[in-house]
Amino acid sequence: MTLLANQVAVVTGANSGIGKAIALALAADGVKVCLVGRRMEALQPVAKQASNGSVCYQTDLGLDSNISALVANLKRDVKGIDILVHSAGVIRLCSFECATPDLLDWHYKVNVRAPYLLTQGLLPMIKARQGQIVFVNSTAGLRAGANASQYASTKHALKAVADSLREEVNADGVRVLSLFLGRTASPMQASVHEMEHRKYSPELLMQPEDVAAVVINAVTLSRTAEVTEVSMRPCVKSY
Ligand SMILES: NC(=O)c1ccc[n+]([C@@H]2O[C@H](COP(=O)([O-])OP(=O)(O)OC[C@H]3O[C@@H](n4cnc5c(N)ncnc54)[C@H](OP(=O)(O)O)[C@@H]3O)[C@@H](O)[C@H]2O)c1
Repeated sequence: MTLLANQVAVVTGANSGIGKAIALALAADGVKVCLVGRRMEALQPVAKQASNGSVCYQTDLGLDSNISALVANLKRDVKGIDILVHSAGVIRLCSFECATPDLLDWHYKVNVRAPYLLTQGLLPMIKARQGQIVFVNSTAGLRAGANASQYASTKHALKAVADSLREEVNADGVRVLSLFLGRTASPMQASVHEMEHRKYSPELLMQPEDVAAVVINAVTLSRTAEVTEVSMRPCVKSY
């Protein structure tokens, strides 16, 4: 019996990369995982691998109506939520001069508005379980580089969301963790390499399972402590 056995988690971005690795690591520890993503055909194999009664929720987090429906469906399907992991995210590199308002809004909707609204909708269920919330952030949420103002500004905002939320909900026994990740092997990182015209060598990067191992460690830590922030980067600097 693990510390997390029989807990319920909601993981966004669960059909790919980091979210998928975290969902599977939680499931391996006995957690029932509610898997959230847009592409059902990519969610279903994760549910099969996870087992534990894990369920798929096809959701476009860029649409408020889909987020409200997700909250309503979760309220119907599970009695409480112990862990909420926000991993869904988008990135498109573009210079400040060329970025369109739509590009900025797209990043904002998926990277900030969606985790904000989803957390808000599920907070009563998380508080009831003295649950834990994990925001998958980026080193770009701490230091913004060139050609990433749309992405980096939303990840800075996500840090502020997590920090402010933590100040509010710690008193209810809820823990809030931000993960500031460097380059991690995933479809998103493959596309970043393509946009940068670099050769993609995933084996030289941090692996999604490395991130998942840190998440499991943080959420199983004794309740006398809280991990508020973790920065991780690849050991070898191949880029
Ligand atoms: N990989 C890195 O190097 C790196 C570094 C720092 C931070 N991060 C952060 O890590 C998180 C996960 O990224 P990843 O590397 O695992 O990328 P990934 O493999 O491309 O996964 C991105 C996930 O986001 C979901 N998603 C995107 N738009 C969505 C929408 N509108 N509605 C619902 N789901 C949506 C995707 O689901 P669908 O495909 O079904 O849309 C997919 O599951 C992101 O927040 C990213 O910013 C990644």
